[in-house]
Amino acid sequence: MNLVLMGLPGAGKGTQAEKIVDKYGIPHISTGDMFRAAIKEGTELGLQAKSFMDQGALVPDEVTIGIVRERLSKEDCEKGYLLDGFPRTVAQAEALEEITSSLNRKINYVINIDVDQEILMERLTGRRICKACGSTYHLVFNPPAKEGVCDRCGGELYQRADDNAETVENRLQVNIAQTKPLLDFYETKGYLRNFNGQQDINKVFADLDELLAGLQ
Ligand code: AP5
Repeated sequence: MNLVLMGLPGAGKGTQAEKIVDKYGIPHISTGDMFRAAIKEGTELGLQAKSFMDQGALVPDEVTIGIVRERLSKEDCEKGYLLDGFPRTVAQAEALEEITSSLNRKINYVINIDVDQEILMERLTGRRICKACGSTYHLVFNPPAKEGVCDRCGGELYQRADDNAETVENRLQVNIAQTKPLLDFYETKGYLRNFNGQQDINKVFADLDELLAGLQ
């Protein structure tokens, strides 16, 4: 099960990734999470990524491709992987073709979660994440049972630094510009599957799962 999750910021990639990983047990490889972890640890990679992320810009391709190459070559990706937020440019997609071919870990599907732009600002500014386990919530669409506390592990919920309205606006513009050529790239390859991300979270997953069950 070698998968790529695509979608604009706030489309629900992380939310659906949690469900796919829970059910199928494949490693979740989120470039955004990897950068945030590096920033927290204060590594060289974190220093490089921070200035781009704070502005809502993309981290340069060579940096991003390097960390994905290293991660995909790890043993736990032998039985599959779920890439989330990578690739985001055609250059990254071309590099991923080369990486997955050389590792004999070719992509089965590119899952595109489609959501109208107007909805995304509200989704992102209302998002809250668990500091301890990374579970994702929304103040209105997916609230925790107790305010500020994770249902799964009891951890404290926080708001991501780039989920303020100004940075979200930049993230959306940057990603919208990159998306069409990327979708065309994967459409031509025959990997692309589109899903309606404006349905209830569980319904989106039920739709995705129909496709994934066929890979078992
Ligand atoms: P990254 O961390 O990947 O962020 P993103 O793409 O902006 O996506 P998000 O994580 O914000 O959204 P999501 O689609 O996962 O939505 P979620 O499920 O949380 O990247 C951050 C930054 O890192 C980038 O800006 C860039 O600087 C850098 N970066 C990362 N990868 C890179 C790359 N490849 N190249 C270069 N730079 C890179 O859902 C959002 C909210 O909506 C939640 O509150 C959720 O509860 C709610 N929600 C989800 N689904 C539904 C639904 N169906 N109905 C109602 N609410 C829903």
